[in-house]
Amino acid sequence: MGQAEKIRVLVVDDIAETRENLRKLLSFAPDIEVVGTAATGEEGVKLAQELTPHVVIMDINLPGMDGITATEQIVREVPTTQIIILSVQGETGYMRRAMAAGARDFLVKPPSGDELMATIRRVYEIGQAQAARMAPIPTTVVPGVAGHPAVGRQGQLVVVFSPKGGAGCTTIAVNLAVALQTRLGASQRVAIMDGSFQFGDVGVMLNLQASRSIADLAVRVEELDADLLTSVLIPHPSGVKALLAPPHPEAADAVIGADGGMVEGSRRIGAILDGLLREFDIVVVDTWSLLNELTLTFLDRADLILLVVTPLIPDIKDARHFLELADRLGYPREKVGLVINHSDRKTGLRLDQIERALIPALAHIPYDERAGIVAANRGLPIAVEEASRPIGQAFVHLAAGVLERLSQFRKAQEEEEEVSVEVSRRLLGRALGI
Ligand SMILES: Nc1ncnc2c1ncn2[C@@H]1O[C@H](COP(=O)(O)OP(=O)(O)OP(=O)(O)O)[C@@H](O)[C@H]1O
Ligand SMILES: [Mg+2]
Repeated sequence: MGQAEKIRVLVVDDIAETRENLRKLLSFAPDIEVVGTAATGEEGVKLAQELTPHVVIMDINLPGMDGITATEQIVREVPTTQIIILSVQGETGYMRRAMAAGARDFLVKPPSGDELMATIRRVYEIGQAQAARMAPIPTTVVPGVAGHPAVGRQGQLVVVFSPKGGAGCTTIAVNLAVALQTRLGASQRVAIMDGSFQFGDVGVMLNLQASRSIADLAVRVEELDADLLTSVLIPHPSGVKALLAPPHPEAADAVIGADGGMVEGSRRIGAILDGLLREFDIVVVDTWSLLNELTLTFLDRADLILLVVTPLIPDIKDARHFLELADRLGYPREKVGLVINHSDRKTGLRLDQIERALIPALAHIPYDERAGIVAANRGLPIAVEEASRPIGQAFVHLAAGVLERLSQFRKAQEEEEEVSVEVSRRLLGRALGI
């Protein structure tokens, strides 16, 4: 988020006291500014047009034009503005309509200050990411790599994400990459990218020295080609090539962009991903648990998102929110695969309950204290060290599940392409009168 730019918020509620309370709550957030308030839907739409706020907090029950209709109009007329619906408990019927109208999120009255601020920041980030995606990337940024046409990428992207820190993303990303490479053999190329620029530990887990890192690439995205990639990626004995995080957290600025605005960062990461996907068959990205623009750049481009949870209520709750967000972002359901880590821990939650609350799991990874410690201390991935233990087998199983999902996805894509080729052939035929 830009240091100078505040998140500009418009509050629409017919009750003066609610407007005032929201304003008061938000006055404690140094990065948020209430730029206007409106008491009716009509006034809300008018002010949204005039002020183009980043975020509108919209009451659902308004006299005259209701909150849903006002949402629809704002989404249509001020598409950069994100809307959070505010409602009283039990209005879930409206809620679905509000989401269909284009609202980004909802809050139940009265929201706590923390909840309100967190939701505003989250939808603001979504809006920024949307803007970054819509901004055209200059073609010089992604030139064709020698031997490969610039059009179309060959590789497939797997992004490992968890809304909760410490759930095991890095462990899973690293071991998945190694298990995939082992299974596919030398004819296929697998890369891992540390998407956790500030405190990434893919290098530590793979026992690799981060002598070269993404910081070396980020400043040269304009000249990104196969040679440059090869010179920056670090080979692991398994055959996997790793694009590591910078050795010092400060160097992450080189990736994110000097303005800290992340729009530039998104563009750079997009270009780096394009480069990797031209050179590798599968790219696995380890992310951090913060859902910001950079993370969204990875998630948007993913063929498969592995959502990592442990069998704990807060994890499940956050994962549910993530699945809802994925729906709102228009991701197809097959794009998300659930991985339950520490699956054998006795937490009072059964795996079938978790899967019913979320989605069926692609893999269960048991807790293995010894393997975890060996991996952490020796820098050797479990998939290599502990292939005969249940945890090693779980990674083999995960790799198989991922490959199956990726091949289904590729098949569906090819069928889609065939259909569109057939359609254009027919249209051309008709145009030519044959
Ligand atoms: N299935 C497992 N069995 C034993 N130890 C595990 C398992 N999964 C993860 N660990 C250990 O738990 C710790 C946290 O895992 P990891 O670093 O992969 O999580 P993360 O989600 O990447 O965390 P962060 O949010 O810090 O990036 C590590 O020490 C790792 O070795
Ligand atoms: Mg991690």
